Amino acid sequence: MEKQALIDLLNRDLADEHAAIIRYLVHGWMEGEDTPLGASLISISRDEMWHMHWLGMIIGELGGEPNFTPAPYPYYPTSRATMLKSYVEYDEKLIPH
Ligand SMILES: [Fe+2]
Repeated sequence: MEKQALIDLLNRDLADEHAAIIRYLVHGWMEGEDTPLGASLISISRDEMWHMHWLGMIIGELGGEPNFTPAPYPYYPTSRATMLKSYVEYDEKLIPH
């Protein structure tokens, strides 16, 4: 694989991690930082920040420029059920990738 192709793939992952950070933060705050689910979602967002950091470091080491545009992500503010269902659907699409 050529270096630029690898950088492009890593940047795609970076955009997904960025979207995950936003999604977990928004849903965590919606749920409430003082609730078990909200606190858990915000905690998961911190893991995603590390993933984004690692990808950005690798992209930089390869001589690439990190993409700071987040990937599209589902946003379902109507209820817990639709919100949590969106996580399952979103992650199922990421598994093959
Ligand atoms: Fe991640």
